[in-house]
Amino acid sequence: MVQAARLLMDEVLATKTGSKILIVDDNPTNVELISVQLRPFNYDIRKAFEGEEALSLVKKDPPDLILLDLMMPRMSGYEVCKILKNDPATRMIPIVIVTALRELDDKIKAIELGADDFLMKPYNKLELTTRVKSLLRIKELYDDLDSSESIVFTLAETLEAKDVYTRGHSERVARYSVLIGRQMKLNDTELRDLRRGTLLHDIGKVGVKDSVLNKESKLTPEELAHIRTHPARGFEICKRLRSFKNVLPIIRSHHERIDGRGHPDGLKGDQIPLLAKICSIADAFDAMTSNRPYRRGISPEQAADIFEREIDSGQWDPTILKIFIDLIRSSLAKGQT
Ligand SMILES: [Fe+2]
Repeated sequence: MVQAARLLMDEVLATKTGSKILIVDDNPTNVELISVQLRPFNYDIRKAFEGEEALSLVKKDPPDLILLDLMMPRMSGYEVCKILKNDPATRMIPIVIVTALRELDDKIKAIELGADDFLMKPYNKLELTTRVKSLLRIKELYDDLDSSESIVFTLAETLEAKDVYTRGHSERVARYSVLIGRQMKLNDTELRDLRRGTLLHDIGKVGVKDSVLNKESKLTPEELAHIRTHPARGFEICKRLRSFKNVLPIIRSHHERIDGRGHPDGLKGDQIPLLAKICSIADAFDAMTSNRPYRRGISPEQAADIFEREIDSGQWDPTILKIFIDLIRSSLAKGQT
């Protein structure tokens, strides 16, 4: 029965062989012991005997998992863990702390630094292999998620190439939106969602005909209706990505108006998500101040004047718009725009 349960567990936690595991311990015997226990699983085992060496190995070729000793001379495991978890490039690598320390304080400290799991010495082989497999499985899921996200961002770059007149537009809209968001004291998660959502706000334009997207003369009513499908198209592209849940409202609702005369859903006032309201203002500012082949962009000062006149037009959220006008004027005063 125990054997069957183990086999089942192995099946559930099965990960691809060849996963890269870095063992870090100043005691070579400990490194060898773990390495021998993991040998049957055909992992790609790397070894480091001090902190700096571990960091340079991770930098050269990031592993899928790190087994890290805490007590090492010069650079401790705590420091290694802190450095890796503070770096966006290595943050997602699971770290298992392998330690003989039994004090609760040591555990808490390591958890605060971002460690993913613990293995208390002496540990048994099953404990080691089960933890390793389960964390590798999670790492694989993260990697999958990463690749879905990168597909969407690549799509956004494709759009920039396709929509020749608005190159750099999304990046600027993201920058202005984050400035507004900071001024509104949004928290870090909201600012991150705001940045990602505004970078992708026009992603649905990949489904809009090039002839309409790049037309220099006035659009016909049919062409206008076609281009207005882009928020819903963008929503369809991104809706299956769970990690994009909070950016979907920006993609779908960045052309809504406070008075309900926007599209695609005709949302009114507070029905419009906050981040989408910010995006629509930044979007309009960039459209006004950018050059097009058939017209020159106006100055930030002129754009601020237009916004000022439009505060109560029903198009924009007046509170957010006032914040942005102040931002434009104060950066003009500092000579930054
Ligand atoms: Fe748009």
